[in-house]
Amino acid sequence: MANPIRVAVTGAAGNISYSILFRLASGAIFGPDRPVHLKLLEIPPAMKALNGVVMELNDCAFPTLAGIDITDKAETAFDGVNWAILVGSKPRGPGMERGDLIRENGPIFVGQGKALNKAASDVRCIVVGNPCNTNCLIAMKNSDVGNDRFSAMMRLDQNRAQSLLAEKSGRTVKEVTNMVIWGNHSNNQYPDCENVRIGGKPATEVIGDKEWLLGDFIKTVQNRGADVIKARGASSAASAANAALDHLLSLARPTAAGDWFSAAVCSDGQYGVDKELIFGYPLTSPGDGTWKVVEGLPMSDWAKGKFEKVLNELREEREFVKGLL
Ligand code: NAD
Ligand code: LMR
Repeated sequence: MANPIRVAVTGAAGNISYSILFRLASGAIFGPDRPVHLKLLEIPPAMKALNGVVMELNDCAFPTLAGIDITDKAETAFDGVNWAILVGSKPRGPGMERGDLIRENGPIFVGQGKALNKAASDVRCIVVGNPCNTNCLIAMKNSDVGNDRFSAMMRLDQNRAQSLLAEKSGRTVKEVTNMVIWGNHSNNQYPDCENVRIGGKPATEVIGDKEWLLGDFIKTVQNRGADVIKARGASSAASAANAALDHLLSLARPTAAGDWFSAAVCSDGQYGVDKELIFGYPLTSPGDGTWKVVEGLPMSDWAKGKFEKVLNELREEREFVKGLL
């Protein structure tokens, strides 16, 4: 067997991680021939629960699980890892916006950015903990492993959008391609209904109901996290875990020709976004962890209005955390 791939997961005793870890360990993500070594980070009060998760992982007797380390020290968790999935942080409750979590969760990513710095030279870091774009910005600015190694998760929004469009058009999810969620993982995100395709054709042609596309479709994707919280009494977990792994795989496997995927990455000014904001873009990857922004997508004036709104929101979040950058 090949050398183990080393994956750090923070908040490892939490709800999302409970749906991530078993899939990582089972070989479902990196394949049956690639052993996985898990490095799990928690805060001291959650170490007992984490021990229980480790018992369960061991009890699965996964042939691909090469080892598990648990720790409450970020530097130990990140030491030598290839991937770091940063989940550990507080979820929002009913009536809160994701941005309301900045004050509590932002500081976590200062320490973790610094720890990545010391421990990991060849790491790809995926930020899930909310507000994930700005937490990612904080981790990136506190680290020197390289801005291109950080990304934040827009994939749950992409998956939600694809699923809604498949249902509305009566087509399969696989036929819905080229879905980009611009900007922020917030209720101001802009799920692009002008560039998405269904069966290779513009969704605007396939779905005659333009009012739905510009109205209910966008609102449903924007508010889905809050709707799940209202219904479940808890933040999305299984679908978030699934999206985190989809995000990882989109970086670890080549993007299908002509398609793209959504993730928030460090802007280099593409589409007029301020440099270094962590902005949701259409991306492609050759499958080695690197990515490129797809440039030149057209946008109507109506779409530009949505784009500007979410861009301004990210600027405000950056201003709010400037003391942490
Ligand atoms: P949870 O409360 O079930 O688990 C979070 C875990 O993180 C807990 O076990 C906690 O002990 C741990 N933790 C807290 N501070 C930590 C630190 N400094 N270091 C390591 N671990 C720490 O929450 P959850 O449902 O798993 O959600 C986690 C985060 O993911 C929340 O911020 C939530 O809003 C976010 N989320 C993001 C998306 C997205 O699309 N980006 C989707 C769903 C949830
Ligand atoms: C989601 O989109 O489900 C998560 O970000 C959780 C939340 O707070 O909405």
